[in-house]
Amino acid sequence: MKLRYFSHSSFQITTDAGQVLLIDPFIDDNPTCPVRAEELSADFIVLTHAHGDHVGDSFSIANRCDPLFIAVNELANYCIDKGFRAHNMHIGGAYEFGFGRLKFTIAHHGSMTPEGGYGGEPAGVVLSIDGINLYHTGDTGLFYDMKLIGEMTPIDYMLLPIGDNFTMGIGDAVKAVELTDPRVAIPMHYNTFPVIEADPHEFKRRVEALGKEAVVMDFGQELTLT
Ligand code: NI
Ligand code: MN
Repeated sequence: MKLRYFSHSSFQITTDAGQVLLIDPFIDDNPTCPVRAEELSADFIVLTHAHGDHVGDSFSIANRCDPLFIAVNELANYCIDKGFRAHNMHIGGAYEFGFGRLKFTIAHHGSMTPEGGYGGEPAGVVLSIDGINLYHTGDTGLFYDMKLIGEMTPIDYMLLPIGDNFTMGIGDAVKAVELTDPRVAIPMHYNTFPVIEADPHEFKRRVEALGKEAVVMDFGQELTLT
């Protein structure tokens, strides 16, 4: 599978079978994103929570390609109310989709919709696709149960925020890597706005000081995950 990073918490996964998933596609209003929403399409859109910098351009993209939204119940219903297809889930639950397995995890954050409605509980997501386990934590503070998440599903790639203010900063994110023990840590949710400025290379150095691997993805870069 391939993983492309658009900056902030926005990623595109392309499976070996050619299915495309977007996670939290915050594109056109994202000053660090190198692509435009009109260039993107998806078979599935996974949303971690309802904040505008995560729902982002989901609906304009969905208008063109009719993807299946995957989200916790209230946020899935919000997508259905907007006229789209959605698969309702909740935290702790997993489901086998055509692309692989997806499980929602806890995240400590908020989740109000752009209209001010309740977006359900914020979440992280563990994806098992093409033999790779990938944990996108969503927006969250540090929590000790990350250790449990890593024990239940050995994580190959952990995508986690380092920008501070709304989420973990670098110090807490390094601890999150220590708890979850992924094979590779990839920082996200930084440098989009002045309030979340952080140095991803400092994060990388501190993860490497634990004897672990970190990769700083360029905005727009695509990696083949093995
Ligand atoms: Ni948020
Ligand atoms: Mn956010």
